[in-house]
Amino acid sequence: MKKRKITVSPNSGFCFGVKRALDIAGKAIKERGVVYSLGPIIHNPQVVREFSEKGLKVIKGINDVSEKSAAVLVPSHGINPLALGKKRFTCIDTTCPLVGRVQKIVSGLKKKDYFIIIVGDKNHPEVRGLAGIAGKQSSVVKNKKEAKALNLKPGKVALISQTTASVSNFRDVVSVVAKKDLTELAAFNTVCRNTSLRRKNAELLAAKVEAMIVIGGRQSANTSKIISACRKVNANTCGVESAKDLKAKFLKGKKSIGIATGASTPQRAIDEVVKKIRRV
Ligand code: F3S
Repeated sequence: MKKRKITVSPNSGFCFGVKRALDIAGKAIKERGVVYSLGPIIHNPQVVREFSEKGLKVIKGINDVSEKSAAVLVPSHGINPLALGKKRFTCIDTTCPLVGRVQKIVSGLKKKDYFIIIVGDKNHPEVRGLAGIAGKQSSVVKNKKEAKALNLKPGKVALISQTTASVSNFRDVVSVVAKKDLTELAAFNTVCRNTSLRRKNAELLAAKVEAMIVIGGRQSANTSKIISACRKVNANTCGVESAKDLKAKFLKGKKSIGIATGASTPQRAIDEVVKKIRRV
């Protein structure tokens, strides 16, 4: 079908934290040849593969590195600082400054003896890092159902959010915890503004088009949240990692197509999807 109208949502492509991390990694690889990354630098397999070919080797843990002169990279979503162990490596820290800010908030709350509730996905590296900093006096909850089930002692409680979580879910959790018998409650909305804007814009676009395509890694938390947000307003929404995943059947008969992306999706992936839409 010819003459499809394709609209790319504002705020698509890399967010500033991802771009910054890749720039730092690129310079480090140029200087050192090989750099070891504690987990994928960002949640986009195509970009991770491309960087791995250049010299960024993904490792599961610090024990996978034996050379004393090795350079170890901390990914954009940060880590639990304990994961660096006691060995002395050159550390290349690409933690997004916004994630770094949340880590500082958590350290401060821990020093002040707050019980810290982290709202997010317990398996996400950012949340694992925050939980590691918060220590035993903390809990991770995904939603208000899990928050309701929390058995909190009366005392000082603070809530923070994964940077790529949803603000409305965070607010729901805060309202549930506020009903519990506590002496003090502090809540820090630490959802990254780029994440909220990206989702909002994608949702607005999805409501206007016949079909919506969201490009991003399957492991990317913010991509999957954008897909769900778009699906709520447009059932013709599909998530793809790259143009290869896009089926001609999905585009059949659709005259207006919207495109949005997760924060770790490169411009190249958008260009390839646009090209495929024009071709089929
Ligand atoms: Fe940072 Fe927000 Fe991107 S926390 S990595 S700017 S999505």
